[in-house]
Amino acid sequence: MNHAAVAPISRRVRDAMAGLLDDVQQCGAEHWQRWVETYGSVRRSLALLLNADSGEIAFTKNTSEGISMFASGLDWQPGDEVVSVEGEFPANFYAWKALEKRGVVLRLVPSEQGRVSQEAILSALTPRTRVVTVSFVQYLSGFRLDLEKLGQACVARGCLLFVDAIQGLGAFPIDVKRANIAGLAADGHKWMLGPEGAALLYVNSQVMEKITPPEIGWTTVRHWSDFSRRDLSWRDDARRYECGTLNTVGIYGLGAAVNLLLEVGIPNIAARVLQLTDRLRGGLLAQGHSVFGPRAREEASGIVSFVPRQGGPEHLLDLFLAHRVQVAARGGMVRIAPHFYNTEEEIDRVLELAS
Ligand SMILES: Cc1ncc(COP(=O)(O)O)c(C=O)c1O
Repeated sequence: MNHAAVAPISRRVRDAMAGLLDDVQQCGAEHWQRWVETYGSVRRSLALLLNADSGEIAFTKNTSEGISMFASGLDWQPGDEVVSVEGEFPANFYAWKALEKRGVVLRLVPSEQGRVSQEAILSALTPRTRVVTVSFVQYLSGFRLDLEKLGQACVARGCLLFVDAIQGLGAFPIDVKRANIAGLAADGHKWMLGPEGAALLYVNSQVMEKITPPEIGWTTVRHWSDFSRRDLSWRDDARRYECGTLNTVGIYGLGAAVNLLLEVGIPNIAARVLQLTDRLRGGLLAQGHSVFGPRAREEASGIVSFVPRQGGPEHLLDLFLAHRVQVAARGGMVRIAPHFYNTEEEIDRVLELAS
């Protein structure tokens, strides 16, 4: 019940990582070509998940790194502006806040009861706005943004849309092309059901030339495999954002995780997650708790946060802990986050404890 923090990995993910560990233990780097092939196949799986091109996917170590690369790689001019939302998870704040040193103005739009208003975002745009950066799903309220509508508006206003997708990718469809997303970052350890520390950065091929790699290593350059060359021209694709040796074990795990999701089908997963969170939300409201965040289905997600009807959240958190039901304490609330494989019985068990 805590997928918005760190998900359990599936047996398949575990086996994929354990298989690689066994291989490296027994054979060292003998099979390194297989690792390289696997990077390619995992990139293709991630591209399928996003409707991207696999050349637009870079492996990173986490969401923060992807956001930082995109934010710091643009050629900012003093007076340029970035629009975001108040109360974003800090990963999608500090990377942009740090740009103030380069003369960039960060404008934060308030959210109302955890709801992010597209109109409020659009009315904060000025001719100097270069980037709008938002979470696909807010980490506390669970509000899920209509990215296609926002992306269209960004194109019309001549700015780039960047998305912190970690709280939604794996559970809800994202089509980076239809949504005109310029850049997107997510780690695999939440809704993708992968391990920690194996993440992706998507950069649209049409904006790649505008995002100079801020971290430079031997693999960022075109002639990376020729160790005697000294030519600082970037690789043609998003691998220019990969700084040196990759997290091969993590990438094996991420690949197995994403393939499992693709097999089940993201629309099926989304429908199931909404069915479970509807049941949870309905039950909590019936018990008199104050549920925070959106109610409309098109804005709902896998996250349900609430303030218990009596006192603070501590008592309930202790009770969940004692019964080995994993939930999270966030912003003075209890945050519950089931995934598609959870059962109605498990939701009812949570409700029983909350009653
Ligand atoms: C919206 C959001 N972004 C980013 C992160 C985590 O970032 P990272 O992958 O860099 O640890 C979280 C984790 O809680 C989150 O909720």
